[in-house]
Amino acid sequence: MYQKMIKLILVVGARPNFMKIAPLIKAINNHNDSDGKNSRIKYRLVHTGQHYDNNMSDIFFQELDIPKPDINLGVGSGSHAEQTAKIMLAFEPICLKEKPDWVVVVGDVNSTVACALVCAKLGIKLAHVEAGLRSFDRTMPEEINRLVTDALSDLLFTPSEDANENLAVEGIPASKIRFVGNIMIDSLVQKLPLIERSTILEALGLPPSNFIYVTLHRPKNVDNKNNLKNIMDCLQEIAVDIPVVFPVHPRTEKILNELSFGKTHGNLNGLNLLDPIGYIDSLNLAANARLVITDSGGLQEETTYFRTPCLTLRPNTEWPITIKLGSNRLTDLPNLLCDVQQLLSGPLKLGQIPPLWDGKTSERIICELAKAI
Ligand code: UD1
Repeated sequence: MYQKMIKLILVVGARPNFMKIAPLIKAINNHNDSDGKNSRIKYRLVHTGQHYDNNMSDIFFQELDIPKPDINLGVGSGSHAEQTAKIMLAFEPICLKEKPDWVVVVGDVNSTVACALVCAKLGIKLAHVEAGLRSFDRTMPEEINRLVTDALSDLLFTPSEDANENLAVEGIPASKIRFVGNIMIDSLVQKLPLIERSTILEALGLPPSNFIYVTLHRPKNVDNKNNLKNIMDCLQEIAVDIPVVFPVHPRTEKILNELSFGKTHGNLNGLNLLDPIGYIDSLNLAANARLVITDSGGLQEETTYFRTPCLTLRPNTEWPITIKLGSNRLTDLPNLLCDVQQLLSGPLKLGQIPPLWDGKTSERIICELAKAI
């Protein structure tokens, strides 16, 4: 029987990309294994190397069963222009050699926009997973990455109705948009048995439902020494009443090292600073915490799935659905203590899971890509 062959390049670069690519690879393998299909999908996995430490990259490959990348561009850290340009320079020859039918990029990091630009210039079809999200805050590098990537994409896979509406307002034709749901939740659902078996609570001596899980890495929160000091003072105050566990991103670590908190990673009277943790442990903490305080996009989504109350320390979010339907609420430093107290005295579980956050998003995407050639 005649079989169509579709060749994809899948791009990963930074920590939040890995849990979005892992389910796509599984869905491709399932597609190729299943009987009665008239197309086969071949893929090459490209890691830009934007994130490179073991606990920012390798551990996610192991935990999420992602195969070793076929190509690692090894670009590493740098200014935005430097990093984006290095990725473009390294990715262009790969595209020319591999001649993919489609390049698939995910999320909103510099790797996403850099590879999108290369595809647009070479006339290679581009699919963006997690398209249409907007914080309407152009001071965030991710917002620029989202706007540019979406403007250049030929197929836009959206996680929520608000994303569809944003794209429509920007003039993206409906024929390019596919509302497929949230791919992060595919990884979460696939790994639930392992997440439940994580022993991180015992290892850290944390009682279920009686601790706060904190992650902070946004430049606006952590790059300014005074600002981060004020946040840390507030977290110490909170930790007097309830244990606080805070795995520290390398960007945050740099500034903490200049503050009194830096070198003493460990338990500071209930405020426990850790090195970055893996996917399985992070989700166990998100599922079991009494409350999460974060500025990460991923944790806003994951806490909404677990219905764990979440305070996002940002003036805006590209995930308004997590506020409208889920368990998320925005806060700022002056209101943080008061908001924590209010949520601690409220229900253990909040909100509802948004439509199509059902673990089947990657199947829907692969089905659309198989039709698109
Ligand atoms: C990037 C993404 C952000 C995402 C975050 C998740 C952009 C613009 N930002 O931010 O959207 O939420 O990843 O982590 O793409 N570093 C290490 N080891 C690593 C990687 C980084 O030490 O493996 C340090 C370097 O000092 C680097 C700094 O962290 O300069 C920042 O890394 P970078 O990738 O530039 O941005 P993130 O803050 O991680």
